[in-house]
Amino acid sequence: MQDQAPAIPDRRVDSVPRLLLFSGSLRRESHQSRLLRHFVSVLGSACDIDMLTPADVDLPLFDQDLEQSELVLAKVIGLHHRFESADGLIVASPEYNGHVSSYLKNTVDWVSRLPRIDSRYAARNAFHGRPLLLASASTGWTGGILGLQNARSIFSYLGCTVVADQICVSDAEQCIVDDRFRFHDGFAEHIENVLKRFVTVVESLRSARAAA
Ligand SMILES: Cc1cc2nc3c(=O)[nH]c(=O)nc-3n(C[C@H](O)[C@H](O)[C@H](O)COP(=O)(O)O)c2cc1C
Repeated sequence: MQDQAPAIPDRRVDSVPRLLLFSGSLRRESHQSRLLRHFVSVLGSACDIDMLTPADVDLPLFDQDLEQSELVLAKVIGLHHRFESADGLIVASPEYNGHVSSYLKNTVDWVSRLPRIDSRYAARNAFHGRPLLLASASTGWTGGILGLQNARSIFSYLGCTVVADQICVSDAEQCIVDDRFRFHDGFAEHIENVLKRFVTVVESLRSARAAA
């Protein structure tokens, strides 16, 4: 099987860092996706954004019996490439009963499994050393903070450098104006600061990797 042609254009080494944004919700009106769109508007041109959509993922429930399916593997290889091409990750996960969504976990399980399925990827953990910012938007008052503990555990296990900062939006429905999130000044500023700090971490790790 051939690698899928990278869907992401090549870039110069000195260009802005590339961030992969992943919403852990399949829902069309997802608050996670809305939150990621808010981040994109804050980040502006500071980063090259690759937004992963449910249509891009479209994987079956993880089943080792499907590991040899060419159709499934082609999808997993494409996704692995997108994670590997990112200098940093931002994951927004809904909190379902105190945990991340099964869709998020399923996607991560498939991508993490590739090195064991295809020997060309044997030493290529797409998550290893990748800086990750976690976020959640919830209709409850806790802002999905419990689900993010679970996400932190999963992504740390995989080798991501999960930053201490995280963004939790509580009572998400009450923060929507014209289909967008509009936060009060203090919280909007908090988001800007967290994103700024995260981009700094991403840039420094990218420079360190380039120098190694
Ligand atoms: C099965 C299920 C379990 C949920 N569990 C929690 C929960 O534990 N904590 C919480 O704050 N919200 C919980 N919610 C509410 C979600 O925060 C809310 O549905 C949110 O909008 C989901 O994210 P999305 O808009 O990106 O799809 C749950 C929702 C569902 C459907």
